[in-house]
Amino acid sequence: MADKLRLAVFLSGGGSNLQSIIDKCAEDYIPAKVALVVSSTRKAFGLTRAKKAGIEGVVYRRKKFPDGKTADTWLVNLLDDHKIDFIALAGYLKMLPPPVVKAFKGRIYNIHPALLPKFGGKGMYGLKVHRAVIEARESESGVTIHKADEIYDHGEIVAQEKVPVFPEDTPEELAARVLKVEHSLYPKVLKTVSERLLKEMEK
Ligand code: GRF
Repeated sequence: MADKLRLAVFLSGGGSNLQSIIDKCAEDYIPAKVALVVSSTRKAFGLTRAKKAGIEGVVYRRKKFPDGKTADTWLVNLLDDHKIDFIALAGYLKMLPPPVVKAFKGRIYNIHPALLPKFGGKGMYGLKVHRAVIEARESESGVTIHKADEIYDHGEIVAQEKVPVFPEDTPEELAARVLKVEHSLYPKVLKTVSERLLKEMEK
């Protein structure tokens, strides 16, 4: 029986969440190994983090393929070749193709920097989220981790943690407060998920 699961992390940006996951896997806090990083752009700093950690990083751009079906199949095969058990989306700005969602049903997680179902959906990413929270004069924001499906920021919520919003907050200040919580909450959830999946695989 495998004692570690194989995780694929999808991202489009800096990858600070990827880093916290890599670190917690290295410490054996999460019984998994980041076996693959998939980025929607070659410019993502997350790819540099992957390289530093000795993890294969792949750029996946659907436009590069002759058609959608070929793009879908390529990604499904890539995950298959790397024997991926589950997926963590960490700042991935694209939608996962339906065949991937189907193949990994219930084993894809996403992190969102607000308290869903508020302040989510297409186009709600980065500082836009924090700006919207401040403009709505919310007194609390936070982090949501949910199962991902074919709709942006949709799917069963598995964990939330709140942070206060202060009247004088800038979007950047709120983002930093939220991000700090992201770095502890995502590894915590992925630990629980990994332990459960390992148990299920034992059966
Ligand atoms: C995080 O705020 C995450 O919640 C959101 O995208 C951001 C990614 O940040 N989905 P990083 O690339 O992990 O630093």
